Amino acid sequence: MSPAEQAARLREQIERANRAYYVLDAPEISDAEYDRLFRELQALEAEHPELQSPDSPTQRVGAIASTALAKHTHQRPMLSLANAFSDEELAAWEERNARLVPEVKKAGYTTEVKIDGTAVSLTYENGHLVVGATRGSGIVGEDVTPNLRTINDIPLSLKGKDHPKLIEVRGEVYLPFASFTRVNKEREKLGEPLFANPRNAAAGALRQLDPNITRGRRLRIFAFTVEVIDGRLNTRTHSELLDLLASWGFPVEPNRKRFASLEEVRQHVDEYEELIAKLDFQADGVVVKVDLLPLYGELGVVGGREPRWAIARKFAPEVAETELLDIQVNVGRTGALNPYAILKPVQITGVTVSRATLHNEDLIATKDIRIGDKVEVIRAGEVIPQIVRPIIQPDFPRGQPWRMPGQCPACGSPTPRVEGEAMRYCPNVSCPARVLEGIVHFASRGAMDIRGLGYERVRQLLDEGLIRNVADLYKITWDQLVQLERYAKQSADQLVAAIENSKKQPLSLLIFGLGIPHVGYTAAVLLARRFGTLDALAVAAREEKLGGIQGIGPVIANSVTAFFNESRNQELLDRLKAAGVNQAEPHAASADGALSGKTYVLTGTLPSLSRSQATSLIEEAGGRVASSVSKKTDAVVAGEDAGSKLDKAKQLGVEIIDEAELLRRVGQTS
Ligand code: IVH
Repeated sequence: MSPAEQAARLREQIERANRAYYVLDAPEISDAEYDRLFRELQALEAEHPELQSPDSPTQRVGAIASTALAKHTHQRPMLSLANAFSDEELAAWEERNARLVPEVKKAGYTTEVKIDGTAVSLTYENGHLVVGATRGSGIVGEDVTPNLRTINDIPLSLKGKDHPKLIEVRGEVYLPFASFTRVNKEREKLGEPLFANPRNAAAGALRQLDPNITRGRRLRIFAFTVEVIDGRLNTRTHSELLDLLASWGFPVEPNRKRFASLEEVRQHVDEYEELIAKLDFQADGVVVKVDLLPLYGELGVVGGREPRWAIARKFAPEVAETELLDIQVNVGRTGALNPYAILKPVQITGVTVSRATLHNEDLIATKDIRIGDKVEVIRAGEVIPQIVRPIIQPDFPRGQPWRMPGQCPACGSPTPRVEGEAMRYCPNVSCPARVLEGIVHFASRGAMDIRGLGYERVRQLLDEGLIRNVADLYKITWDQLVQLERYAKQSADQLVAAIENSKKQPLSLLIFGLGIPHVGYTAAVLLARRFGTLDALAVAAREEKLGGIQGIGPVIANSVTAFFNESRNQELLDRLKAAGVNQAEPHAASADGALSGKTYVLTGTLPSLSRSQATSLIEEAGGRVASSVSKKTDAVVAGEDAGSKLDKAKQLGVEIIDEAELLRRVGQTS
């Protein structure tokens, strides 16, 4: 596989994981696996700078906002934290910081437990809560104010007086173990899928459309920082800031401590590890923060993601030993054959584990994992456990090395290994396993959102011969449904309504739902915004005109072209259109927009627009936003404190405009 293909694959895997985690609250891979993919992509991009792209997940702070809730642009980005897994990594962090700002060694540190919940930003205007939002991408989150207002821990008005005019309080919303267990018990009774961990349950509760559901979950919060947008604070240290937050009425992490040096912090790390095991909420480490606030600006932020003034000291995940009973293979919707382990059930972090992912045959061979082996399994507070390694006992006979079957386990089609590919694929588009997965994906919450249409029901509809593909969903009738087993009038009503409703989903979700290989959610949004309608996309795809679109690399472009060139796919799309499924994107870039074909660069702080707002305006007018200035740049939009990009623009004679001019060009002012 070429480095470009490798990067495309990693990006797709990471995007998929991001979406499963942040938008669907249903993670598909473990944090450890995610970190591994992420680091691999970072290393690849470092080695091949030509592969770097502003759309790469490495350039993003976090998740993508989902579609149902209103977006909220944070005034200051919500950052993430770098990790240290050992005392050495912690010491190296201080050394790196000290080279930049020698005073850090004398500034003292504050430590707090790292709460494993979901980050929120609470905007207070003159001491009153006006907006509460999720983190989302770190730049744009979702407005969940009514839900956050149901959390008793969150003051609606700050206690005391003389608050800065405008602030964003940052904290972590979490669900204590007791509430988590209760919520899952209730879900079990209702036959709803269980939350994998308290973190996902908290995120799910926050993103409800009905605040009463949020209220019933009994979420809690710990506040940990403040961003002052307008006004000032007299605090000099992070510990004082936590005291201030407490005086305003926020719960702050009760196990916080201040230490004079990193050496002292290290001496107490073990205590934190023991403490965490006893807490009544999920925690996954200790956050170490430079205490002296004036140093934060000087220390700065790495890659726009991680501030240097804080680091998360993580603890090793819990490990268990068990027996590998079998290796089975699941067929995904793209035909990918995914091997997984059947384990002798074992308890890890209070959960019974009986399956683990094995990723691909090379990984199994590299780790030399064989059926019958005793294996070490980890689960770090997350859903899918991993096999770390086999525990080889001398003199104990082992089985044969495992071989991936040469045929699809569902339809028997041969699945030869393609040179350079880690995965094998079932090539049969009518393979029952692929069809099932494809329809479930189409109906899933992140795509066409047909509520109530999960595996069991799709399987039943396929078995009954009512559907063979996604277009068939739109011809199912109420009369057909009520005749099926396990359907009452009400469930038939609900499914018919959900299918009808799905016709209104935006084009981006339709494209994503079609399951075109390599087209993840982000690529689907880019394509939908760029072309506006499915017909326009189809024309461009067939004419092979997808190259050159930012964020759409050759692997994706070829895959989309191949999809539209397949006559069966075109028939399917025609049937979806005839059924009345929406084929347009609400926020599409207009091809004849005021800025169509133009490339703009943003620099400095604009007086009223945030970065993401300015980007959306430019893109909706048909333009493109690039990250650096070149001769091809049509204009640079410069705000306050514009830096080297402005100098470069002057040097190259590129036009420089201000926000007012940008607004005029996109038709937002006269
Ligand atoms: S301070 C850098 N303190 O961990 C932004 N974060 O993995 C300031 N978190 O995004 C973060 N407990 O959501 C801080 N005591 C704590 C925390 C904490 C949990 C979360 C936070 C952050 C994420 C990074």
